[in-house]
Amino acid sequence: MDTTRQSPENGATFVVVANRLPVDRIVDENGAVDWKTAPGGLVTALEPVMRQRGGAWVGWHGAPDEEVESFEHDGYTIEPVPLTAEEVEEYYEGFSNATLWPLYHDSVAYPEYHREWFDAYKRVNRRFAEKAAQVAGEGATVWVQDYQLQLVPSMLRELRPDLNIGFFLHIPFPPMELFDQLPWRREILEGLLGADLVGFQVPGGASNFLRLVRRRTDHRVDRDRAKLIGENQHTCIARAYPISIDTQGFSDLANSPEAIAEAEQLLSDLGNPSTVFVGIDRLDYTKGLRQRIRAMGELFAEGTLDPHDAVFLQVATPSRERVEEYRRLRDDIDLLVGRINSEVGGVGRPAIVYLHASFPRATMAAMYRIADVMIVTPLRDGMNLVAKEYVACHPGPDGALVLSEFAGAARELRQAYMVNPYDLNGMKEAVMKAATDTPQNKRRRMRALKKQVSENNIDKWAERFLNDLDAKGETAPEEGED
Ligand code: G6P
Repeated sequence: MDTTRQSPENGATFVVVANRLPVDRIVDENGAVDWKTAPGGLVTALEPVMRQRGGAWVGWHGAPDEEVESFEHDGYTIEPVPLTAEEVEEYYEGFSNATLWPLYHDSVAYPEYHREWFDAYKRVNRRFAEKAAQVAGEGATVWVQDYQLQLVPSMLRELRPDLNIGFFLHIPFPPMELFDQLPWRREILEGLLGADLVGFQVPGGASNFLRLVRRRTDHRVDRDRAKLIGENQHTCIARAYPISIDTQGFSDLANSPEAIAEAEQLLSDLGNPSTVFVGIDRLDYTKGLRQRIRAMGELFAEGTLDPHDAVFLQVATPSRERVEEYRRLRDDIDLLVGRINSEVGGVGRPAIVYLHASFPRATMAAMYRIADVMIVTPLRDGMNLVAKEYVACHPGPDGALVLSEFAGAARELRQAYMVNPYDLNGMKEAVMKAATDTPQNKRRRMRALKKQVSENNIDKWAERFLNDLDAKGETAPEEGED
């Protein structure tokens, strides 16, 4: 399949549709405009795919009440979709991030259901579908991304039945017992079924979806596909495609002279401790920060770790700051870290160095370099690309990854030190095992992890999905899909 060409007469032959564009438009108080890399795993993963394939990226530019013209960026076209301040509140902060996000993540926070939020979600999904229909050429491949846009596939199929429509969900797809709460469950399922191929991070997501289609719609399900009844008869296939990263790109970045120098500086700023524990997350209640910080605090308070030769560096990137649950989380973490540091450590020797800020990728790579133990302990996570970035960036085979069994990545990164993030004692043990394991054991594990991440990179992921989409499921599912 050739998805790289773009013909101006007929529109793009390859279109990505995502709530976010890869860059955010920032306007400062003097009105000066700047563009900044957008946060989150979706952008990290898809940006290299677009750079390589070209085409168009349809998405919101991150600033409310602003219309922005389309423009060229890194070899592809950016097609901004405007949102009003009210839509940001109801569609993005509301239905996407206070209803769907918690519901899809095991309800670790309470999902809120408001009819006007769903109305806004429908309205905005239609706008995205219309924009995609406008920029896609005849017979183009359109790849819709993530939970914010689950109605787009069916809306787009109605507008443009000639398109090849794929959908990929970056977050978990919940079991029926949870999904059934959603008052608009049927609309969401029908929305997704507009796609020819729906991709999930893990096989369990695909089987949850197929079970729901069987039970909550009138369509027939046969193995990994739903045969749609009605006017627009087509087949919708559901399979797992575990996402990854540009492994080589991350590794090159971590080995650049800038990252090496930055890593040295960072180590010296931390007082050259003998063991550095690192956590890097968006500040999100699904990431298990409360539990992780408590576990690390106890290790210092009990004297298992000594702040004179160990430090825990936790970066929390600001996220969705106007959503209530996120505000509460920010306050809780500030309080928790403050309390721990006032009890353990000393002048210039805090046990926990907590940074609530976002950093350029090179600085993140420097942090991965210095992390003797990387701690990734979400309560629930679709994949978690930080775990894969660490494996790609940490030089040599002597690092250690502590990973939650509830991250999608745990299915692939089996040689990590696995933890149940709700089990504080278990987490403390795993962290200490990772820190004090024999060099041979650590090397064996890291080598296996590195092999996994370099063999299954983002190109493979995109190729597998797009080939299946092109073949309309004629290829057999990969082994191990259940
Ligand atoms: C997760 C989601 C993405 C989202 C990202 C950042 O990775 O799967 O869809 O873009 O978080 O969140 P934000 O709300 O800032 O876009």
